[in-house]
Amino acid sequence: MPDKNFHIITFGCQMNVHDSRWLAGALAARGFVQTPLEQARIVILNTCSVREKPEQKVKTALGRVQSLTGGDPDVLVAVTGCVAQQLGQKLFEGNGQVRLVAGSDGINDVPGAIERLLGEPRLRLSLLDFTSRYVEREPAGHSRSHPVAYVNIMQGCDNFCAYCIVPYTRGRQKSRAATAILDECRALLGQGAREITLLGQNVNAYGRDKSGDGTSFADILAQVAALPGLERLRYVTPHPKDMKPADIEAFSSLAPLCPRLHLPVQAGADRVLARMGRKYDSQDFLDLVAILRKTCPDLALSTDIIVGFPGESEEDFDDTLEMVKTCGFMSAFSFCYSDRPGTRAALFPDKVAPERKQERLLRLQALQEELSARWLNDRVGQKTCLLIETRSPRQLGGEGETLWQGRDPYGALAHVVLPSGADHTGRMVPVVITRAGKHSLSARLEGDIW
Ligand code: SAH
Ligand code: SF4
Ligand code: F3S
Repeated sequence: MPDKNFHIITFGCQMNVHDSRWLAGALAARGFVQTPLEQARIVILNTCSVREKPEQKVKTALGRVQSLTGGDPDVLVAVTGCVAQQLGQKLFEGNGQVRLVAGSDGINDVPGAIERLLGEPRLRLSLLDFTSRYVEREPAGHSRSHPVAYVNIMQGCDNFCAYCIVPYTRGRQKSRAATAILDECRALLGQGAREITLLGQNVNAYGRDKSGDGTSFADILAQVAALPGLERLRYVTPHPKDMKPADIEAFSSLAPLCPRLHLPVQAGADRVLARMGRKYDSQDFLDLVAILRKTCPDLALSTDIIVGFPGESEEDFDDTLEMVKTCGFMSAFSFCYSDRPGTRAALFPDKVAPERKQERLLRLQALQEELSARWLNDRVGQKTCLLIETRSPRQLGGEGETLWQGRDPYGALAHVVLPSGADHTGRMVPVVITRAGKHSLSARLEGDIW
C-alpha cells in the first residue's frame, strides 16, 4: 500500500535521533512501511534549531523534498521537533505539502495525526502545545533491540543559558517516572540490549521538577545499573553545576557505569561563563574534573565548546584553549556562536566578527585533533572489551574472518577481526588495542567472547 510508505529525515541531537526511532517504530506498528525518500508518500522532517546551520539544513531539505516529488500534493510532509516548535504554522506558508507541524511534546501524537490526515486530504494539523508533565508514549513494537539502547529520563530544560534555544523549543524540564524508566530498560534488556544510555538535556537535574517522584539522578542511575543483563550504562548530557557528590561517587560504585563522561564546558574564561549564565567558573570546572579523575582515574572526558560568544576577547579565547589542554578531553564538539531568536545573547551588542569566530574555531579544532590523536595513541597496547555493534563497512582480505566494529567502555570506535560464520552483534569481545587511526582504533581478539 504505497500510501503507507514513509521516510524520516533527522537532524540534531541524540534526543531527536531517539524520537525518530520511536516514531518509525510506532508507525510500523500501525502498518506503515519505512522506505527510501524516493518511494515515500509521507515524509517526516525531525528538526533541530540549536544553531543557524541545522536550521538552514531543514529549509534545504524541505526544498529538496518538494523538487524530488515535483510538489505532488499527495505527498504529505510533516515537520516535527525544534524548528516546528519554533516556527509553528509559519511552516505551512508557501509549501502545500506541509500538512503537519508537531513540536517536542506533540511528537507523541504524530502517528495518530498522520492517519487522520490521510483520511482528510484538505486538513492541516498543528501539535504545538507543551504538556505540564512527562507523557508516556505508545509502545513502538520492536521485538528485538539493538545492543546499544537509549532511554529518555526527562524532557526539556530549565537552565536558560544565554545562547540556547532548547528551553524554548523543548519546554520546561519534566522528569519521567522512575517506574516507567525501569520498565522500559527491563524491556530493552529482555530484547537483547546490553548497553543503555539515559537521555535528557540536563540529566543530572533529574527529579528536580514538579514531575519528579522523589527519585534523584543518582538513585535512578543505581536502579538502572542493578538491572540484570546490563553490561554498560552511560548518560548524556549532564550540566557541570548539577554534578552532585553522589553522581561523582557513582563512577566508582556502579560497575556498569562506563568511565566516560560528556561534560560540556562551553568556555574557559570566567567572564564569558558568567555572561553565558552557566553558573560555574573555570576553577569550579577544574575542581570537578579533578575529583572525577580521583574517583575514576581512567575517566575519559569529552565536551562541547562555543567560540566567539558575544564579547569574547582574544584573552578569553586563550583561556578556552588553556582549559582544553588542562582537561585533556578525548574529543570535543565545537561550534561558532550563532544568534538564536528569543535568547538573551541574541540581544548582546558586542558580537564577534564571523571571520574571527571561524579563525578561533579552526585553532581550537587543531588543538583538539592533537589531543584526540594523543588519547587514541595512548590506548595502543591496552587490554579492553568491545561491545560489537555491527559488521564493519571496511573490507578484509583474509578468508574465514570478518571485520566487525564496536565500542570500548570509553565510547571509542574500534575494529576487530572475528571468526566468520557467526553474527557477533551484541557480543562482548575482549581485545588488545593494536593500532590507533585518526578517529578509531584497531584491536585483536584476546580471550573468550560472551
Ligand atoms: N543540554 C546540553 C546540550 C545543549 S545543545 C548541554 O547543556 O550541554 C548542544 C550544544 O550546542 C551546546 O552544548 C552548545 O555547545 C551548542 N550550542 C547551543 N546553542 C548554541 C548557539 N546559540 N550557538 C552555538 N552553539 C550553541
Ligand atoms: Fe541549553 Fe543550557 Fe539547557 Fe544545555 S543546559 S539545553 S545549553 S539551556
Ligand atoms: Fe537541536 Fe532541539 Fe536537540 S534544538 S540539539 S534537536 S533539543
